[in-house]
Amino acid sequence: MPKNETHSIANPYGYFDAANREYVITRPDTPTPWMNYLGEGRYGGIISNTAGGYSFDRDPRTRRVTRYRYNSIPADQPGRYVYLRDQETGEYWSPTWQPVVGRQLEAYECRHGAAYTRIQSTYRGIAASLLYFVPPGEACEVWVLSVKNVSDCPRRLRSFSYAEFGYYDALIDQQNLDWGMHIVHSRYADGTIVTSTQFRPTLTFFSSNVTPAGFDTDREVFIGRCRDLANPVVVETGEPRQSEAPRGNNVGSLCHDLVLAPGEEQEIIYVMGVTDDPGTVAPLLARYGQPREVQAAFEALRADWDIYLGHFTVETPDAEMNAMLNFWNPVQCRATLYWSRFVSAYETGLGRGMGTRDSAQDTLATVQAAPARAREMLDVLWHLQFRDGHTWHQVFPLTGEGGPGLAGEFPDWPQWFSDDHLWLVLAVCAYLRETGDFAYLDHRVPYWDSEDAPAGGDTMWDYVLRVRGVSRLDPLEQPAGGDTIWDHVLRAVDFTLTHRGPQGLPRLGFSDWDDTMNLDHGSGKAESVWCAQQFCRAMLDLADLCDCLGKDKDGARFRALHREMAQTINRVAWDGAWYARAYDDDGLPVGVQGETYHQIGLNPQTWAVIGEIGAGDRLTRAMESAHEKLDTPYGMALMAPPYEHSDLRVRGTTTYPPGAKENGGIFCHAHAWAVVAAARLGWGERAYQYYRQILPLARTDADTFAAEPYVYCGNICGPTHPQYGYGRNAWLSGTASWMYVAGTQWILGIRPTFAGLQVAPVIPGDWPGFRAARLFRGVTYRIAVERMGPGNAVSLTVDGRPVEGTIVPFPPAGQAEVVVKAIVGEK
Ligand code: GLC
Repeated sequence: MPKNETHSIANPYGYFDAANREYVITRPDTPTPWMNYLGEGRYGGIISNTAGGYSFDRDPRTRRVTRYRYNSIPADQPGRYVYLRDQETGEYWSPTWQPVVGRQLEAYECRHGAAYTRIQSTYRGIAASLLYFVPPGEACEVWVLSVKNVSDCPRRLRSFSYAEFGYYDALIDQQNLDWGMHIVHSRYADGTIVTSTQFRPTLTFFSSNVTPAGFDTDREVFIGRCRDLANPVVVETGEPRQSEAPRGNNVGSLCHDLVLAPGEEQEIIYVMGVTDDPGTVAPLLARYGQPREVQAAFEALRADWDIYLGHFTVETPDAEMNAMLNFWNPVQCRATLYWSRFVSAYETGLGRGMGTRDSAQDTLATVQAAPARAREMLDVLWHLQFRDGHTWHQVFPLTGEGGPGLAGEFPDWPQWFSDDHLWLVLAVCAYLRETGDFAYLDHRVPYWDSEDAPAGGDTMWDYVLRVRGVSRLDPLEQPAGGDTIWDHVLRAVDFTLTHRGPQGLPRLGFSDWDDTMNLDHGSGKAESVWCAQQFCRAMLDLADLCDCLGKDKDGARFRALHREMAQTINRVAWDGAWYARAYDDDGLPVGVQGETYHQIGLNPQTWAVIGEIGAGDRLTRAMESAHEKLDTPYGMALMAPPYEHSDLRVRGTTTYPPGAKENGGIFCHAHAWAVVAAARLGWGERAYQYYRQILPLARTDADTFAAEPYVYCGNICGPTHPQYGYGRNAWLSGTASWMYVAGTQWILGIRPTFAGLQVAPVIPGDWPGFRAARLFRGVTYRIAVERMGPGNAVSLTVDGRPVEGTIVPFPPAGQAEVVVKAIVGEK
């Protein structure tokens, strides 16, 4: 059924290699650095296709290991570099192309896989390869350099590594140079460079498994005057200076001699990491100095990803969709679960920390494959909740410090967001549907402002451990202290109920999901239609949960709240052909036909469907209007027409030029909801059309798109923007989670419910069907879907027996596999 997937998805800079599950970049000069992530959410970093990027330990703000200069020239520097120098001719180059970009590499290839990157090239008869990864569970990374003489004469080479170390607190490293430049120093002993300060236990080490011929740790000595990373004097002369930086800019440069007969290959393993305990360094270096151990660690990393990716696999007639759903999309989802919107090529790892709204949504698509980590995240986020029910908007992972995020810049405006706490409700319901871990509702977490809140200085992970009263994370452990998750949920609902505006809709707060929708300037009257719809979805999810738990009274209450809010929306927000977006500070509607700008917003149309707010044909009309007014070949614009000038009434949105981001750009995260909404309406063709519109692997116009073609980007410039089609903010975006949910749960229709696994595909008419395997509550469901005729009607056969409806009931305990056959369409 599927096309030959290997190499089928190409653009001028690369292709997806499905067999090896790697994106292969075939030219180094990509329109932007095409990034990957290393590590499993603790020690790790970002790495580009030319080895640019940096590393950090758990927190890119306070435990940064190497430096990176955002927005600098040359771009994407520094990184994890190795220079090679031919000792006969004096010629030198970078096997990763950067930073010595002046050489024409004869062959170049970068393979980004799941949490590893391999860059290979050939230059003048020398083939070199660098593999970068973080051994699972370690606070260190490994670079494996292989150099092979593919010429027919003996070669004498020298290699020089390069990593740049600053002060661990990355803000201080940039802001307080008078102090920062005096406190970090480096020493060399027995082949290892150690960079540290005299007052912190923290030290960075850089070592290799081959005795170096020399070293340098002082950047100015290594680079030389009036030079840069493209022509360091040490590399040019081939002579390391054995510099031990007493202060200043510290680097990890080890020099090695490589003498290679024709056909001979030599390997050097570099190990770089950070620790607060010097005693751990020697054993670590001893271990990863051995190629066997490195190989085993690499295999362990791949095995861990195999397990993670094995929770859901699919074969559809669409090769790009397969590649995304089987690999890149879940890979991206894991990166967002780990790093929220904190650290990427666009997010500097300094300001944002993790977000309540964002991280809660990041759990939605990882809960099936990483439930323990998702639950840890939920604990952390619930702790950001205040007793009145609202939550902090952001948290820094290592200090546990919460805050109002960007609202902090406008202290006279509300310091809370109308949606944060409701995302947590939705995320908890999704977690419970997936896992059936209902004991979680009795699990206790203190409120941010309760008496047993954590002491300052607790790290996020320490805090989770302490709240659970355990020394390691184990979802089954009973917690001590705090209020139950169920109480937290109720307070979240109450916050919205007690913060309604004049129309009866939720007050907007600083903003709702759209950060730039800042309509409340202190009057407290601005309201969000979209948030009302989000509330409706939360009420239905909670009502379902209550049905399952036998909490009938609560269930009835949530259904009544849903009804009441849906009626309010239909009464005050229907504008004739679509739903309004919000009410402003003066009680005037936004996102309605009478406006010059922002006549229609996307979110209130999609969420009218997602929130099931009913009312005759309004849902289909709203979605038709959105299609007509907002759809473009690159995705749905967030609203139209965009504002042309700064407007104090609207604030944030109007800081952007027309067509950019929230001002009428294509906001991919919101676009994903259009896929969900179209599928919920049973519109198979349109859901699929929307799905494909922002599918990065389908964007073969790399010079227009610019962003990585293997992961979703956050936004794409809209039709009114001069750079229409240009993608920005790749990797860390809620698009990842929602496109995964949209693809797997709504188009393919395979979704967890409290009663069992639902199989209700809404697929295009010309698909003959698809196959999928889904692990759900410990059972593997092997699903074969076959189209018999038009429409979305489903008849299910489970283990050979017909089943009423679209939900596969839970099999008896002990059954490990269920075979599901779904016939779609009327005969
Ligand atoms: C960014 C933010 C997210 C917000 C969105 C829309 O993606 O990370 O929290 O919902 O912008 O403003």
